[in-house]
Amino acid sequence: RRDFQIAPSILSADFARLGEEVDDVLASGADIVHFDVMDNHFVPNLTIGPMVCEALRKHGVTAPIDAHLMVKPVDRLIGDFIDAGASYITFHPEASDHIDRSLQLIRDGGCRAGLVFNPATPLSYLDYVMDKVDMILLMSVNPGFGGQSFIPGTLDKLRETRRRIDASGHPIRLEVDGGVKVDNIAEIARAGADTFVAGSAVFKARNEADPHRYDGVIGDF
Ligand code: DX5
Ligand code: ZN
Repeated sequence: RRDFQIAPSILSADFARLGEEVDDVLASGADIVHFDVMDNHFVPNLTIGPMVCEALRKHGVTAPIDAHLMVKPVDRLIGDFIDAGASYITFHPEASDHIDRSLQLIRDGGCRAGLVFNPATPLSYLDYVMDKVDMILLMSVNPGFGGQSFIPGTLDKLRETRRRIDASGHPIRLEVDGGVKVDNIAEIARAGADTFVAGSAVFKARNEADPHRYDGVIGDF
């Protein structure tokens, strides 16, 4: 069995009570905080930036923070997220003119680096950088919004990515993001993923009896 990790996407949290909700999902069994950064340019939505990441650290969050940067250009924000306490920093190859340099910037800052693939983005971007990534994130929806449906073709892409990771011999995490639910997570795991982002499936599964507990993807898996 792989070392599976659940990464709730705080895009679906109540931003007015963000610190408490992050504490609650971690106490309920989540492993990583997935932090969606959108710029209304690379994707058609606007969310949160490094100040909010820093605020979560000051609040006392010690779990890994997985900053998923959907911004273009990406390089300047990489430094800001390193300073803000991010653990993983992932970006989309289309958002960087110099992918190798952006990956190196992240690692030089002491963070783990990742590349994110939109549903139609080819895996060939990995060809020359397998030794420079700590995480590969496959989008199973087009990025921009929570609550969309899982695109089934992602399963074949996951199997192909798993083959590439195993052949590389590098300890690269394989994360999937978008439409992950209780009823498809096992199939996604069998296709090779080990790290599961879930936004709506986590935050809509608050326990009726204990409002600080979340079930669903965190509890059942
Ligand atoms: C989409 C974001 C996702 C999103 C996932 O652009 O990158 O992290 O919040 O939300 P669900 O799990 O609701 O599809
Ligand atoms: Zn995301």
